[in-house]
Amino acid sequence: MAKIKVYSEIQHEIDSKIYGHFIEELGECIHDGIWAYSDKIKRLPMLDDEHLDHVRKDLFEAVRALVHKDGEDKTVLRWPGGCFSDHYHWQDGIGPRNQRPVRENVHWKSGIFRFIKSADGVPGPDYNNHFGTNEFLMFCEKAGVEPYININYGSGTPEEAADWVEYVNGSADTKWGGERAKVHPEPYGVKYWGIANEIWARWEKGHERWSSDYARRYLRFAKAMKERDPSIQLVACGTSKAEKEGGTLFAEDAKTWNRTLLKEIEGYVDFLSIHTYIPRSRFMWGSSEKYARKEKAARAILASPAMLKDELNSAWQDIVESLGKDTSVRVCFDEWNLWYHVKQVIKANYALVDGIWVASVLHVLQEFSPVAPIANLAQMVNVLGLIRTDDHGIVKTPSYYAFQLLRQHSHPGYLKTEVECESYESGKFGYIKPLKTPFLDCGATVSKDGKNITLSVVNKHLEKSITSSIEIEGSSQPVVEEVIELSHNDLFAFNTPENRNNVIPTHIAIENKQLDKFEFPPHSLTILKFIYDQR
Ligand code: AHR
Repeated sequence: MAKIKVYSEIQHEIDSKIYGHFIEELGECIHDGIWAYSDKIKRLPMLDDEHLDHVRKDLFEAVRALVHKDGEDKTVLRWPGGCFSDHYHWQDGIGPRNQRPVRENVHWKSGIFRFIKSADGVPGPDYNNHFGTNEFLMFCEKAGVEPYININYGSGTPEEAADWVEYVNGSADTKWGGERAKVHPEPYGVKYWGIANEIWARWEKGHERWSSDYARRYLRFAKAMKERDPSIQLVACGTSKAEKEGGTLFAEDAKTWNRTLLKEIEGYVDFLSIHTYIPRSRFMWGSSEKYARKEKAARAILASPAMLKDELNSAWQDIVESLGKDTSVRVCFDEWNLWYHVKQVIKANYALVDGIWVASVLHVLQEFSPVAPIANLAQMVNVLGLIRTDDHGIVKTPSYYAFQLLRQHSHPGYLKTEVECESYESGKFGYIKPLKTPFLDCGATVSKDGKNITLSVVNKHLEKSITSSIEIEGSSQPVVEEVIELSHNDLFAFNTPENRNNVIPTHIAIENKQLDKFEFPPHSLTILKFIYDQR
């Protein structure tokens, strides 16, 4: 039998921004996802709001239930990209909608992506700029999420980025703040601003081959933007382990990029951004994603959160070694997800195994919150998405449910857990190396008043349920308030427009005495909520 022990001392406070999301003008994320373009979508019920009247109600409600948690700090939503941000001109997206220009999606309509087509559309549909700065910021206000804007470094200028800061945050007596005040009288007060996206990559508009070149130009942007609002916090573009480990598509100095960059931009940087997509298999460019739906692949996927720990540690080491351990600079993990097949960049649908992977990554993010207080799952709608939309309704994927369960039921105090259970050895799959992984993976959190504890447990065993005792330090008989399970007989079960509730969370009735022998079903996520009766 396995043993789970939850320790009662708070290790650190978890920053709500680790539960962040990301939307981009790519595939069906904004185009017919967040924003209704086509007539068949427009006939669905829309928000009754003159600025957001192309946002469908069903989607909006699902977004709010995902991001907003009563009584707790907001999480973040990043926009407009991604690769798209490095050619986006923000002034195209303000003013009367019918006068805004239609533009080509330069990044996603060109290069290798021009060959990608699916029944769901194309990666780079032309965009009409109707979802612009005010629409994004009002969407954030209404959903209860804090905005994070990535400016255009690739084809933009420092002046253009500074004007954007003034438009968003400036008082009504400044040139651009006055323009904004015609739509939104108060400054929005956007705090987080990213300067460039994956700029070390050959595929990126404005690609920099050397970190020093990026640092030099980054400083011009940073200084111009801070001049308009000194209170903003800046995110610089860093390299994660995959880039450091090499490849022809990356910067000449990818390995030392972070350290050189951080030293050169010290004083003008608050966060170092890194991205990780898994498994990045060679099959990603093949004709189907079925290869990933095999148990060998699932075992590797479920072991991979350990690699995300390595990613975060590696970026943190770069920060500490270049700026010292007392630095206030932190990691911003602003893109992470599973990406099995390139076509998922238009529209994806995730299975139960992917959902429990999301929960396991969130356990890592809760643990690493002190060094990486911002993280954004890429992306929120359709594109590698938690939510999938269609002409009739929305599909909440198992990844959506797992994310929502962790967001809604976790508390701010992080508690240490200890697990005694069997482990398994997984093989290599894509970028994932062979790993030894305990079958049970836990995360525990406590409320601010110390009265409530949530324990979330992922059982990574694909065939067997695991029985475990559960002990909470200092509590002789913890009272179970609620138990919620995300499970299904089929590890690869999906939700579809035909069966939207195939994999959904269910409440389990249990008695306290069952804590001596609690059974976690195979390939499942279980949330156990306790009233903490410290003795
Ligand atoms: O999330 C999809 C794309 O993946 C983003 O635009 C880019 O930053 C990354 O390569």
